[in-house]
Formats: sequence, structure tokens, C-alpha cells
Amino acid sequence: MNETVNVILKRRSVRDYKPDMITEEELNTIVECGLYAPSAKNKQNWHFTVVTNKDKIEEMNRLALEGMERLGIEKEDNFHIFYHAPVVIVISSKIEGYSEINAGCAIENMALGAKAMGIGSCIIGETRYMYHQANKADIDRVLKIPENYEHDISICFGYPALEEDEAKPRKENVVDYIL
Ligand SMILES: Cc1cc2nc3c(=O)[nH]c(=O)nc-3n(C[C@H](O)[C@H](O)[C@H](O)COP(=O)(O)O)c2cc1C
Repeated sequence: MNETVNVILKRRSVRDYKPDMITEEELNTIVECGLYAPSAKNKQNWHFTVVTNKDKIEEMNRLALEGMERLGIEKEDNFHIFYHAPVVIVISSKIEGYSEINAGCAIENMALGAKAMGIGSCIIGETRYMYHQANKADIDRVLKIPENYEHDISICFGYPALEEDEAKPRKENVVDYIL
């Protein structure tokens, strides 16, 4: 099978990581994969906050869990929104048309680039709960989100601790062809 197609079909959300940091070269490649994503009108209206500082990752986890608690969202004890992954990238984008779709293209490019290098990832929407813990300006400061940009989503990376799962079943009847 074509190598790229194989990477796409074999990618899984990884929720168990080795504590080891990925190499600087691997991290730079992942970021570059994000930067080379397509974007509407080539706006590239995204911003990536790359977090490798363990204390900062723990702070983000704590703020998100507190936000979830405020909303009454229950999680099991010891739940960690980034599954203790050593790298988190927060994606924010300028508040304008298609920016969330552009961010989606960037995040999947990073996930696939990582997978191709043997690095696991999981897209994390739960960073948004940080905004239920404190006011927007404070959280934007923690996440280094530029002015006029809005938090979209995060993704965590690390070497997988376990063999990756089989693919979850995919929905049927979601494709129509007009021939
Ligand atoms: C927008 C988005 C948000 C997600 N947020 C989370 C999350 O907060 N926590 C998590 O464990 N997985 C999250 N995921 C991963 C999905 O649960 C996962 O992609 C889905 O179950 C399919 O599994 P697969 O990625 O292994 O194919 C998210 C995925 C997307 C696309």
C-alpha cells in the first residue's frame, strides 16, 4: 500500500504515552507539517503555541479540569486531559471566515506527520474548558494566544506506550456518489 495512505489509515488517537520527550527535530517537523497545511485564500491565519514545559502542561490540565468541574462534567480520578503526553500544541486562529477549517487542516497535518515518524497524537478539544475556570484574557495569556485570535483546539504528542488499537468502526451510509 502507498506509504502515505497507510499512515492515514493507521493513525489512531493515542491515550497512553511514554514520558520521554520527542526529539527537537521531530517536534520541528511536526510544526512544519502544520505550517504547510492548506488554508482558504492562503490566509495561514493560525497560531501554534508549542508547550513542552511540564509545569505548564500540568497547569493547563488543572485549569481545564476545574472548568469541567464547574460545568458538572464528571471525569474519573486521575484523568489527565493530555494523557500525560510530553508535548501539547494549542491552535488558535484569527476570528474570520474558514479559520476553524484551516486549523482543522493544520492539526490533522501535524497528526499525520507525527504518525509517519512513529509519534502518537490525540486531538484535544477539552482545553476549551479552561475558559470556564477563568476569564478569557487570563487564559489567552496562559496559552499565548495573540490578540484577535481565538482558541480552536489542541493536540498532544509523544511516543505511544502501547500498541495502537484497531480502528474504531466507521459509520456506513455517509458517502453518496453521483455518477
Ligand atoms: C475536534 C476533535 C476534538 C477531540 N477532542 C478529544 C478530547 O478532548 N479528548 C480525547 O481523548 N479525544 C478527543 N478527540 C479524539 C476523538 O475521540 C477520536 O478522533 C475519535 O474517537 C476517533 O478515534 P481515532 O482518532 O482513533 O480514529 C477529538 C477529536 C476531534 C476531531
